[in-house]
Amino acid sequence: MRPTLVRAGCTAALLVACAAAPAWAQDPSIARSLAATCTACHGTDGRSVGGVPPSLAGRDKGELLQTMKDFKTGKRPATVMHQHAKGYSDEQLEIISNYFAGVTPGAAAAAPAARVNY
Ligand code: HEC
Repeated sequence: MRPTLVRAGCTAALLVACAAAPAWAQDPSIARSLAATCTACHGTDGRSVGGVPPSLAGRDKGELLQTMKDFKTGKRPATVMHQHAKGYSDEQLEIISNYFAGVTPGAAAAAPAARVNY
């Protein structure tokens, strides 16, 4: 087989593998990075202080995903979440929902800045 044909065959095999399971969708650090954008408001690991805005940790994945999709389409009214939800694809929202559903709910930890003694 000529080298160009071998290369073409490898590329085709790679495309099939990528289409079956995108590598980034299974990388836990991607899920953590996407979820980190929520923690400024919803607390470290989705455990909010005083429940405002509501904690996300340990919530039902389907409920979180549907809520995010409703924010995205405007079906559910919001002050900031409709803007935030629009920044993600449905696939990314699923990854984020899956991440928070897997976090054990519990008391919010103090933000790192609050633990520093000046
Ligand atoms: C700028 C602050 C902020 C950020 C960042 C943020 N949220 Fe929110 N979130 C809110 C507020 C405020 C509400 C209440 C609804 C509203 O007024 O928008 C809310 C509500 C929600 C709700 C509904 C909770 C309930 O029980 O009613 C979900 C689910 C949610 N956010 C998920 C997320 C996810 C997932 C992310 C990250 C992709 C995120 N939020 C990022 C502020 C934020």
